[in-house]
Amino acid sequence: MNSGFHFKTKAELTAAAEAAGVDLPLSDDLSVLKTPRRIEDSDITLKNSLTVHPMEGFDSGPDGAPGELTFRRIKRMASGGAGLIWVEATAVTEDGRTNRGQLRIARDNLDGFKQLAEIAHEASDGAPVILQLTHSGRFSKPDNTPKPVIAMHNPVMNETMPIGPSWPVVTNEYLDALPDKFGEAAKMAKEAGFDGADVKCCHKYLFSELLCAYDRPGRYGGSFENRVRVFLDSIRAAAVYRDSRFVIASRFGPYEHIPFPWGFGADRNDPEKIDWTEPDKLYQLMYENGVRLCDMTLGSPYYNPHVNRPYDHGGYEPPEPQLVGVARLFDAAAHMKKAVPGITLIGTGYTWLRRFAPEAAAAQISAGHADAAGFGRMAFAYPDFARDILEKGALDPRKVCVTCSKCTAIMRKMHATGCPIRDREVYLPMMKEALGES
Ligand SMILES: Cc1cc2nc3c(=O)[nH]c(=O)nc-3n(C[C@H](O)[C@H](O)[C@H](O)COP(=O)(O)O)c2cc1C
Repeated sequence: MNSGFHFKTKAELTAAAEAAGVDLPLSDDLSVLKTPRRIEDSDITLKNSLTVHPMEGFDSGPDGAPGELTFRRIKRMASGGAGLIWVEATAVTEDGRTNRGQLRIARDNLDGFKQLAEIAHEASDGAPVILQLTHSGRFSKPDNTPKPVIAMHNPVMNETMPIGPSWPVVTNEYLDALPDKFGEAAKMAKEAGFDGADVKCCHKYLFSELLCAYDRPGRYGGSFENRVRVFLDSIRAAAVYRDSRFVIASRFGPYEHIPFPWGFGADRNDPEKIDWTEPDKLYQLMYENGVRLCDMTLGSPYYNPHVNRPYDHGGYEPPEPQLVGVARLFDAAAHMKKAVPGITLIGTGYTWLRRFAPEAAAAQISAGHADAAGFGRMAFAYPDFARDILEKGALDPRKVCVTCSKCTAIMRKMHATGCPIRDREVYLPMMKEALGES
């Protein structure tokens, strides 16, 4: 079923999409990708319609400040011509870090973030730079050993990281304190020179886990209002610092492709289908509370990475043709763009399409299904992908990401990550060390 990406022509790709039962429009007119996009209620403009997704490198200093490899990564990606750079997951609390290499923003390391924003602005010649703020919830390993902060016990997610039944669920008092921490982190991001702060709610980190806390007693569980409370309160706390030069953004996952009641957005009778009732309501509330930019995503990279980032090689054989995953991502973005047009929406799902990604992006954007196309693994492998698309009208097939999942394999070992295939001088030795290969 999954022979991997082997298409030499657009006709072959289109035929494979048809065989998989999905629609994959491709447009030869790439001019729409050059379109700048102003974010509503702000003076901030995406320089073009190609963006860099947040991509963790796990290369911070012990205190969470950006390290030399962080500066290198962001500089390479920012200098590649993309219209907006979204800087990776940055913890707002020490106990919410995924590991010792994850960025953490704090008063005493703010100079490092100032330097990071400056490097990104200079290298990108003024593209907006967003900082992603997060709490890693059940995936927290602040000292490189699991210290899960869980909103609820979830047997499905326990498959990814076993958590015993006696492990405590996070208290209401702990959650009460989080909005202020996100607010303070947004304030620091602004002071550091970023153009916006992302209050992250996806991938089964703490805020997205809370969206499914149906059985949790008290003010953070049960009703929709309770389950979205901390996320919306955190948006409001961050939005205090919003102005024409600083936007509130969100990496938001409306659907986790995990059966009800363990995953958000799934149809109760058919987890393959999205029930948009709650995601739409929440997305509208995000807008009403100040969010004007969203980088959408689906699934959880820990549980179903094939949903989150279609790949050829990874931890398991994808259970569906990758093109079905690509179409799911495109269709979900189209739904969101229509539901709340005032939020500038970045779509995803392009990297697996390799050299045909520009034509797919042009088709989605010109149809109004998204405002921009975001690239994650492609930006690791081919940091100047945007320049080649915009100036040469094509991607070089020898430089594209081959979706081999090596970047994730390094990351899961909590080592500094990047692309060991295309950036091999730096990351091949890292991979060998991380995976214990000689
Ligand atoms: C190594 C790696 C690191 C990532 N780090 C983040 C992150 O910090 N924040 C986030 O929201 N998503 C993160 N992602 C997910 C990507 O932003 C993106 O959604 C995913 O790779 C799909 O896009 P792509 O197909 O263009 O790669 C990461 C993915 C990978 C492979």
